[in-house]
Amino acid sequence: MASLELAQDKHTGQQQQQQQQQQREVPPHRSHDPQYNQKRSDPFQFGSRYLGEDDDVFEFNAWDHVETDDAYKEYAEQQYAMQRQAPVSEFDKKRFNSDPAKWWNLFYKNNAANFFKDRKWLQQEFPILDKVTQEDAGPVTVLEIGAGAGNTAFPVLAKNKNPQLKLHACDFSKKAVEVMRSHESYDPKVMQADVWDVAGDELPPGLGEGSVDVAVMVFIFSALSPLQWQKAVENVYRVLKPGGEVCFRDYGRGDLAQVRFKKGRYLEENFYIRGDGTRVYFFEKDELADIWTGKHGSADGAQAARFEIEELGVDRRLLVNRAKKLKMYRCWLQGRFRKK
Ligand SMILES: C[S@@+](CC[C@H](N)C(=O)[O-])C[C@H]1O[C@@H](n2cnc3c(N)ncnc32)[C@H](O)[C@@H]1O
Repeated sequence: MASLELAQDKHTGQQQQQQQQQQREVPPHRSHDPQYNQKRSDPFQFGSRYLGEDDDVFEFNAWDHVETDDAYKEYAEQQYAMQRQAPVSEFDKKRFNSDPAKWWNLFYKNNAANFFKDRKWLQQEFPILDKVTQEDAGPVTVLEIGAGAGNTAFPVLAKNKNPQLKLHACDFSKKAVEVMRSHESYDPKVMQADVWDVAGDELPPGLGEGSVDVAVMVFIFSALSPLQWQKAVENVYRVLKPGGEVCFRDYGRGDLAQVRFKKGRYLEENFYIRGDGTRVYFFEKDELADIWTGKHGSADGAQAARFEIEELGVDRRLLVNRAKKLKMYRCWLQGRFRKK
């Protein structure tokens, strides 16, 4: 009896092994087995799901590195033309550009329930964030710029085992800083949230020149006006140690958020005002490289802050609404820049 059970167990074991072997031959991002299929929360690995010629585009709801098709390109160009023809009025331009923090304060006041995003991809995309939180990483200072609700700071804090980590999270919106300070995980021994304008004249509270190892800028640069880019880059340069790293992610040109803008939202080329009064810019890859390497130039001819581009890529994703048979393209730019 015992040997029959053993034989059956062995048989079931072999079957399972065979199944697992078959599953292994199908890469996780293409698997049809819901147990095995890679979900966005795994964490989702950018750039792992490629659309091949024989694929049915509506089979999955996301594909990576997909160039926009001609129909979409044409649609996007039509949208840009429509947007340019109906720009924001001069009166509203002044209203939105004169005090942008006011509109972000309103945003954080009105969106209390939707702040926190569990960004499981952070450490995967920016391995330095994993490294600095190791127990033996030693004294490290990380600065999150335009931290908002702390969508990078808190996941980093949650993983932290380094007793010598100092995490500064700054935003020019007082309301955002209030949100961070009242977060249940806010621990002033490790984390310091402050109001700071990255395009202003001061350095962040408690941080001197050359004091930061890693600066994180996730969807903040796009909130600046092109006139502020250089000052912001200079400030990041000043606050970083030589060899310090910037972890960067932001919107790329052609992202569906840009293409979808209606009349009365266009401020200037690639720069828009959202319905809630916050501003957003969509970058080209080369433009971003020029800004960070100092090639964009200084209006007053001063020596620009110079970074080395360690990595800068376009992360394109095709999102598919399978029910409506709709194709939507997302486009982000992601990079790591190092202070020379
Ligand atoms: C799109 S949100 C991104 C927030 C956060 N980084 C995230 O990924 O969830 C842009 C943030 O940048 C902040 N911001 C905009 N301009 C800024 C500036 N000049 N200095 C500092 N923060 C700024 C806004 O208040 C807002 O919190």
